[in-house]
Amino acid sequence: MEASLFQSRHEAFITQAETSLRRLTPAADARPARLHGAMRYSLEAGGKRLRPVLCLATAVAFAPQADATHAATALECIHTYSLIHDDLPCMDDSDLRRGRPSCHKAFDEATALLAGDALQPLAFELLAVGYADRPALATALVRELAVTAGSTLLVGGQTEDMGGLAAGATDDRLQFILLGKTAAMLSASLAMGALVGGASAADVEHCRRAGCAAGIAFQLVDDLLDLTADAAQLGKPVGADAQNGKFTYAGLHGVEATKRRIEQLTAEAVTHREATKADTAFLVELVRRMAARRT
Ligand code: IPE
Ligand code: IPE
Ligand code: MG
Ligand code: MG
Ligand code: MG
Repeated sequence: MEASLFQSRHEAFITQAETSLRRLTPAADARPARLHGAMRYSLEAGGKRLRPVLCLATAVAFAPQADATHAATALECIHTYSLIHDDLPCMDDSDLRRGRPSCHKAFDEATALLAGDALQPLAFELLAVGYADRPALATALVRELAVTAGSTLLVGGQTEDMGGLAAGATDDRLQFILLGKTAAMLSASLAMGALVGGASAADVEHCRRAGCAAGIAFQLVDDLLDLTADAAQLGKPVGADAQNGKFTYAGLHGVEATKRRIEQLTAEAVTHREATKADTAFLVELVRRMAARRT
């Protein structure tokens, strides 16, 4: 796909995602204003909006029967909550997020904890309300996001991540962490887009697998950026993984093997995308750019 066409479609999806975030989440001054202010602070802090963009773009790649906006916003609510909690002193203890002080630094720990708490039911409310006239679709979306955000995937991955290197450096454990804390949400972004797009069960599964491979690659890139990037450009601290004793693919296998693995996983994601009966050009380009990103 031509670079300028990719760029304009990408910007349009980001604008759609950010407009919906503002439209569908409580105003900053709604009571209690401190809580809603903190939620909006983190939601509006920027970020690449990758999960909503993947969801929106996947839906339109099929022949959507419904609007993917609510699903995309729900994904960004869960993702943003996971970042707020990930930065807390009891977890990664990180003061910078999306180029601004982390939520607990801008507000306080209790408010950040509660803002993350409130973003979770908000995500499911968005699905229930947004797809009320399509109960089967609403149920499928709730199930996809609930399993993804739950104790076996997102929260499970974060739990094993907390043990760091000290809890044992096996490939099996690393796979569990990578799939759970990161790849599951990217996989769900594609799968939820495909569900809204009315894709066949086989195509939803291809999307899920494409998202898993691209998502694991995404975390490997995140870990490399933590080793090599510059904090101002990245919008979050660098060198934090080593400082926190984190267990990463690059730590286990080295930088060169990590780069090769990113290429393999990206090719795997592209193969699954191209296997679907959908217009895949934009998504294939996005998956390739995710692997080459600098922020
Ligand atoms: C950060 O995700 C956490 C990881 C899973 C690596 P992103 O890199 O997508 O963060 P934002 O949304 O752009 O801030
Ligand atoms: C983040 O992994 C995964 C989640 C927030 C669920 P990291 O801890 O590596 O993410 P960053 O580097 O803080 O964004
Ligand atoms: Mg973390
Ligand atoms: Mg972190
Ligand atoms: Mg990281």
